[in-house]
Amino acid sequence: MGKLYKNKRKPKREGKKIKVGKVGALPEGRGATVQLKDGNEVALFNIDGNYHAIENFCPHKGFPLADSRTYGSIVECDLHGWRFDVRNGQCLTKASCSLEHYEVVIEDDWIQIVI
Ligand code: FES
Repeated sequence: MGKLYKNKRKPKREGKKIKVGKVGALPEGRGATVQLKDGNEVALFNIDGNYHAIENFCPHKGFPLADSRTYGSIVECDLHGWRFDVRNGQCLTKASCSLEHYEVVIEDDWIQIVI
């Protein structure tokens, strides 16, 4: 049996800005899935009006973190409860399982993720 979710690749860093939506489109405390052209995904979060982007797939069994619940700057994987700080990708459950964190830039009211 494979893992629950297949797409666990980390988006490759290319130094490219990707426009993902207008400021205000994502409510505070929520996450959104950003699909990249190559099939990879990033989870974008709005935490108190600040945007943060990390890999979307939980390193435990691959559940999408964008769909999981946030507690302040912490996202808790809905499947088994692993916790991550969306501000830096740090895994609070298992230090060796931290996630890639991507810079988010706001320009002209557009949210852009630097991949
Ligand atoms: S898939 Fe198990 S904690 Fe996220």
